[in-house]
Amino acid sequence: MQSSGAEPDRYAIVGHPVGHSWSPFIHGMFAKQTGQAVSYRLLDLPPERFRVGAMEFFTTGGKGLNITVPHKQAAAELVNQLSPLAERAHAVNTISMRGNELVGDNTDGVGLMRDLTENLRFPVAGRTVLILGAGGATRGILQPLLAAQPASVLIANRTTARAEALVRIFRDLGAVRAVGLDFVPDTPFDLIVNATSASLSGAAPALPRETVSATTLCYDMSYGKGDTPFTAWATAAGADRAVKGWGMLVEQAAESFLIWRGVRPETQPVLLALARL
Ligand code: ATR
Repeated sequence: MQSSGAEPDRYAIVGHPVGHSWSPFIHGMFAKQTGQAVSYRLLDLPPERFRVGAMEFFTTGGKGLNITVPHKQAAAELVNQLSPLAERAHAVNTISMRGNELVGDNTDGVGLMRDLTENLRFPVAGRTVLILGAGGATRGILQPLLAAQPASVLIANRTTARAEALVRIFRDLGAVRAVGLDFVPDTPFDLIVNATSASLSGAAPALPRETVSATTLCYDMSYGKGDTPFTAWATAAGADRAVKGWGMLVEQAAESFLIWRGVRPETQPVLLALARL
């Protein structure tokens, strides 16, 4: 018997490890909601197999990949073309096949900004921002963050030189400075974003409590059940709002879906479903 209808278009998220990813769930909800015929899988590739595995995905008809830790910079090397955002960040979280070319984009920063402004009603213009960490996660968010015209952005990193390197890449876009994590001034910020991978080892970056006032929004790009070490620290330090990165995750996924399918799904139903977990 012949199968009815065409095969769905294939998408996947590549990472290592990737088993914990919520992206198949999120894209599955988007597909259902928009009536798009897509499948979305997990693809676990260690760094030494990333290039070959990703190329194989596309040469066998795959339409698009999301890229997560630790492959975002390797993905920037793989593609034929980079969007301006991905080029400056030298980090790619979304690859699309356009004609015979692989195009790399980065939707992380747009996802963070949509979560801040639309979901959390926190306009960034004129605010003081402290970002913890200077790795791939910070690279992905700096350009959209600076475009929103905060009063200042201070990047604090354990290894000061990595924060300074990011300042050199992004300083023409706005008021951005670097500092060692041990030298963060003990005055309150309007927004503190944890973009370190410290949560993976169960730790929160050590900060003076005075960086937090009751009105500081503390945003952890990590997510999971219950508090993260950073949100627990922020609440203990007196922040009214300590938020995990579920919203950024869903919003960056919606931006990827838009790039791939030309339609932006509603994110609220997915955010509500995740909030019930
Ligand atoms: P990602 O792509 O997730 O950003 P990364 O490029 O490895 O991953 O960067 C991880 C970031 O978390 C770095 O800024 C790292 O600090 P260093 O540059 O000094 O290594 C930071 N980080 C990781 N563990 C940390 C910890 N326990 N305390 C503070 N910062 C930490």
